[in-house]
Amino acid sequence: MKMKIGFIGLGIMGSRMAANLQKHGYPLVVFNRTRNKAEPLLGHCGTFAGSPAELAGRVDVLFSMLAHPDAVEQAALGENGFLTHLKPNALWVDCSSVNPSFSRKMAVSAAARQIHFVDAPVTGSAEPAAEAKLIFWVGADKSDLESIRPLLLCMGNKIVHTGGHGTGTSMKMVINLLIGNAMAAFAEAMALGQGLGLSQKLLFDSLLGTPAVAPFLALKRDKIDQRNYEAEFPMRWMQKDLHLATLSGYESGVAMPQTNITKETYRLAMRAGHDAEDFSAIYEYLSNDSDFAITGQKPPTPRDGTILTRPTHQVLSK
Ligand SMILES: NC(=O)c1ccc[n+]([C@@H]2O[C@H](COP(=O)([O-])OP(=O)(O)OC[C@H]3O[C@@H](n4cnc5c(N)ncnc54)[C@H](OP(=O)(O)O)[C@@H]3O)[C@@H](O)[C@H]2O)c1
Repeated sequence: MKMKIGFIGLGIMGSRMAANLQKHGYPLVVFNRTRNKAEPLLGHCGTFAGSPAELAGRVDVLFSMLAHPDAVEQAALGENGFLTHLKPNALWVDCSSVNPSFSRKMAVSAAARQIHFVDAPVTGSAEPAAEAKLIFWVGADKSDLESIRPLLLCMGNKIVHTGGHGTGTSMKMVINLLIGNAMAAFAEAMALGQGLGLSQKLLFDSLLGTPAVAPFLALKRDKIDQRNYEAEFPMRWMQKDLHLATLSGYESGVAMPQTNITKETYRLAMRAGHDAEDFSAIYEYLSNDSDFAITGQKPPTPRDGTILTRPTHQVLSK
């Protein structure tokens, strides 16, 4: 008999992951704070629970895919939280990007109630989530991972057992530190290039695909070209991940000067109105806020291969 599955958190990622479980024939009990996001999943293969607690009593495995540690803690241990309502020996698989010390705290709370905890954050954004091409970083007892492996394979195509509780989210912190810093460094480099008169097209053509830049940046080109910053990975969650990475650095005694600066740069971009946009909007923020103020006017943004002839040295000598 198939396991009964619950899914809490139906945002950009959770909605697509839950849909893939359904495609493989798993009926779901779902909950989301904002109910209307659950509608596409409801029908003969999906029912909505009135609260996390109500959901918990009806499932053997519970997935959570929530924004941040506070949201996870609220869903698990807050009023109408699920943790005290899961059946003994049920599994809780938290796919949210949270800090490792938080995952370990949740594992202890779960164990005290005879619940098996798995941290299984993912790499891959909206499209890989829709195409079931996520990578899962799994911190768990091996036997717990084996019992949910078929479920993870409905949503992803690579599963890495990183070790015990908190190691999945440790890996996730490391990866998002790299992605967040790489995106911001690329945006700053592009802003400099354009400030020096090189066109966006020439810069993209020259940089993407070379060892100088991270491969994922090539996937951002079309959207940046079109100034389309509809969120695949919202900037506010990237900034949250950089914060949680630096918090983890504090907890483990690791100095993280670079990431702290990047984190604050994203915060400024969020304040400037980019918080719900894709994190690649850091490009828009840094390009717009570059020091064109020296001239009192913004330069044109060439889209073709032309090289601007703005006399930078004259500008700077004013
Ligand atoms: N998008 C990506 O590319 C990506 C990739 C890998 C990992 N992640 C991680 O996956 C998680 C979900 O991200 P997402 O992109 O799916 O974000 P999202 O679309 O903003 O969804 C966030 C989810 O968390 C819920 N939530 C937020 N604050 C809450 C609160 N205070 N109480 C209860 N529920 C709350 C939201 O409920 P409502 O619908 O009611 O707002 C929604 O279900 C995050 O940890 C993110 O860092 C994202």
